[in-house]
Amino acid sequence: MSSAARPLSSPPRSGELYARALELLPGGVNSPVRAMRAIGRDPIFIARGEGAELVDVDGRRYIDWVMSWGPLIAGHAQPDIVAAVSVAAAAGTSFGAPTRAEVELAERVVERMPGAEMVRMTSSGTEASMSAIRLARAATGRDAIVKFAGAYHGHVDGLLADAGSGLATQGIPASPGVTAAQAADTIVVPWNDRAAVERALSTGEPAALLCEPYAANMGLVLPDDGFLAFLREASSATGVLLVFDEVISGFRVARGGAQERERVTPDLVILGKVIGGGLPAAAFAGRRDLMERVAPAGDVYQAGTLSGNPLATAAGLATLRLLDAPAYQRLDGLSRSLAEGLEAAARAAGVPARAPWTTGLVTLFFTDQPVRSYADARACDLDAHAAFCRGMLERGVYLPPSQFEAWFPSLAHGEAHVQLTLEAARDVLGGLG
Ligand SMILES: Cc1ncc(COP(=O)(O)O)c(C=O)c1O
Repeated sequence: MSSAARPLSSPPRSGELYARALELLPGGVNSPVRAMRAIGRDPIFIARGEGAELVDVDGRRYIDWVMSWGPLIAGHAQPDIVAAVSVAAAAGTSFGAPTRAEVELAERVVERMPGAEMVRMTSSGTEASMSAIRLARAATGRDAIVKFAGAYHGHVDGLLADAGSGLATQGIPASPGVTAAQAADTIVVPWNDRAAVERALSTGEPAALLCEPYAANMGLVLPDDGFLAFLREASSATGVLLVFDEVISGFRVARGGAQERERVTPDLVILGKVIGGGLPAAAFAGRRDLMERVAPAGDVYQAGTLSGNPLATAAGLATLRLLDAPAYQRLDGLSRSLAEGLEAAARAAGVPARAPWTTGLVTLFFTDQPVRSYADARACDLDAHAAFCRGMLERGVYLPPSQFEAWFPSLAHGEAHVQLTLEAARDVLGGLG
């Protein structure tokens, strides 16, 4: 169990590895958020994970609320998952040919997810997004995609566009290297803004309306009551395909993801993270008539050397086996006590903060206003958030180092982890108030 409190200044082995990494890897990392720049410190190099805890290369132990950004809903090195992967590895790590486990995993997905009638596996959520969009364009004969400001669907060129204003606007490339033409096919609208969605659907002739049903890449910003049902009706009325990106929410917020919980069935769904149980697997799925357009059943090309990889499918199956009704109840209770405790700690310290939560997802926003959109999230006190994260790390609590991410409670966390986290939070927030 983590307790605390060894100083983190100049960690010798993390520091040394980071210096070497900076020479070899852009920014010293293989994915930007790991660099911890938003909280103004150097990254921490990890040696191993145990349940709900991480141990860094300097031997420091942390309660981990990042959990690899979502895949590890059962915790680090969960024994059933490790065993399943070991058995699979001993039988061969990749065949580039079909296996029984792929069929079984697809069966589990279809059983759980109302919108999934057929499944195509990929190796990353980005690939799954890219492929789902290609399919939506092929099926509708239209080009444009409507997405929400602050929503992330992987680093697909056109989807990096994020105009983020109060009106539906044409996308502006958010990264050099994204062409103006790719960005022009993306229409960005504010989350929870019905009028902007209506305008975009009726004037933009889009192929698809793409959303994270429980937006979790601007921090957790839940849909207003009825907003997802409105998206369903508005897209059906305009011949636009509704695509739910459940890379984060899938198998996390409920057995069948946000679509099951909210009783809103999309035409296509993008999956990742939990489906691979900590190994690289993702998928897109959806209505049979649409999915039958995917090659070789149909004419929309999509492929992958490691798609449906035996190790990843074994980890995904073992993970889903653990996710029964009592597991979701436990995750729900844990997420609630974490969020309510964080809000109470902030209140006691006189720090304006709000902690929206759902089963398996929590964010602590540094604001006294409700957060309903990316603009609201960006108006939070980012300096206070950064100071909070740095203070928590010093006390042995590893948090997402960005205001625009969610915390990921897992089945490996217990009430003791929550209480230790709240103790640390009271301490750090007390110094901020
Ligand atoms: C909602 C959502 N969609 C897609 C992706 C992309 O997935 P990947 O990182 O596996 O490419 C992410 C990654 O965090 C995500 O959060």
